[in-house]
Amino acid sequence: MSTTPISLDLNNIQGDILSGLPKKTQYYIFFKIQDAAKFRSDLAHFIPLIKTVAQVLKDRDDIDDHKRRGQPGLIPLVGVNISISHFGFVKLGIDDSTLAPNGTEDVFVKGQKQDAITNLGDPKRADGNPDWEDAFLNEIDGLIIISGESHATIEKKKHEIEHIFGVHTHHASIQEVKSIRGDVRPGDQSGHEHFGFLDGISNPTVNGFDTNVNPGPKSVDPGKVLVGQTGDPTPTREDWAKDGSFLVFRYLFQLVPEFDKFLEEHPLKKDGNGKDLTPEKGSELLGARMVGRWKSGAPIDVSPFQDDPELADDPKRTNDFKFEGERTSQLKCPFAAHVRKTNPRDDLEPDFSIDDRRILRRGVQFGPEVTRAEHNSGKTIHDRGLLFTCYQSHIENGFQFLQQSWANTANFPPFTGIGNATGLDPLIGQGDRAMSGLDPLSPQNVLPIDTFIIPRGGEYFFSPSLKALKENIATGVQFTVQA
Ligand code: HEM
Repeated sequence: MSTTPISLDLNNIQGDILSGLPKKTQYYIFFKIQDAAKFRSDLAHFIPLIKTVAQVLKDRDDIDDHKRRGQPGLIPLVGVNISISHFGFVKLGIDDSTLAPNGTEDVFVKGQKQDAITNLGDPKRADGNPDWEDAFLNEIDGLIIISGESHATIEKKKHEIEHIFGVHTHHASIQEVKSIRGDVRPGDQSGHEHFGFLDGISNPTVNGFDTNVNPGPKSVDPGKVLVGQTGDPTPTREDWAKDGSFLVFRYLFQLVPEFDKFLEEHPLKKDGNGKDLTPEKGSELLGARMVGRWKSGAPIDVSPFQDDPELADDPKRTNDFKFEGERTSQLKCPFAAHVRKTNPRDDLEPDFSIDDRRILRRGVQFGPEVTRAEHNSGKTIHDRGLLFTCYQSHIENGFQFLQQSWANTANFPPFTGIGNATGLDPLIGQGDRAMSGLDPLSPQNVLPIDTFIIPRGGEYFFSPSLKALKENIATGVQFTVQA
């Protein structure tokens, strides 16, 4: 916690980082820079399209106002953000070495393709590359996110942006490597990821930004997310990097019919009180214990054996749990449950601070709803999943640590006394997933878990401040031009 007052310039920070661009649908446009000089000058026309945190807050007020008045439909809204990879900075002749606290060893400099093989545990192809879509095996220099309330709105903005960069002409400054459209799920599944669980409930609140803080994990200093701000674990940063944030993107495919079938085939017979469960309730409890929350979002640490939608809807209670006094108990929540692996709360605190491990998750679903044919066969036919995106001021402390040292590590959390039987994260763990604790009455039983989430691409980016984009990146001033 800082002692000096924190003052953030919300007009200088890209909107997705602290406030999340409002979205029903989004384009993720991955691009390569073809002509660095032209890209710089095109940026001058692109920068005015970028939505800042201050503007997103205003958009959110407008949305609330629209709802309060009971007006029909959605107000037309569009938000654009941009981020650049190390490879992009190199092409632009920008010395980004100080972005990498560990110099050339830093994962930002190496890129996620290399990290996927070395540290993240992604499945490999025979040629040694991660088993990713070809587009992500190529160099990607940057990412533009377009967020809006309708397909028509984001489509129009995409054309406008393509026009700015001369895409589809002989003088294009960028080439689109891959564009993916994500869509929030329809109807009552809005806000739920494809397995059906409400997502985006537990993001850290940020000191100096979030005014409405509900009970739950303690707030973090802005430097855990924003480079150069109070709490940034890297003490020296160049001016241009301040107020930027590292964006981690992962292209994660989800095998939903297979996941549903697995739950159906392994129903729990009894809950933790010894009460008999119907097969449906037994499958529902199994899923909740893999995730650590019910599909409604209610945390199982608070409501372990039956869903409680009212608890899920109450912002004062839905995050107010910490696995307190449970370092050797899986009765309420298995050690390897996804939310316990990725935010272990009292499994580590207060002995160890986990402030440096907090990430701000954004992202959106892609792909259609499960069809009847898929449901009946238990087999995925149409690609779907999560465009996983998170922000942090240090990739190795944030996403990479969560994936490698927590999700992929069988004997984490460390105090369980059951070592490797704790298991990998049943959703995102890379390797042999077999976890204990799923059956609350026989927690020592270990259940092998099939693969339900497959990484098919990704990259590490930096989302610079507006000032850096205008005064440095678009002009080249204050950088060591390498070539
Ligand atoms: C398709 C892939 C994924 C799915 C379906 C998924 C699903 C979920 C769900 C349902 C929650 C609970 C809701 C919430 O707390 O907001 C959650 C929480 C979380 N997930 Fe994931 N997730 C995925 C990938 C990842 C990845 C790759 C990471 C990081 C390595 C991650 C880190 C987290 C964190 C930090 C939380 C919050 C835990 C807490 O504070 O209680 N997730 N995820």
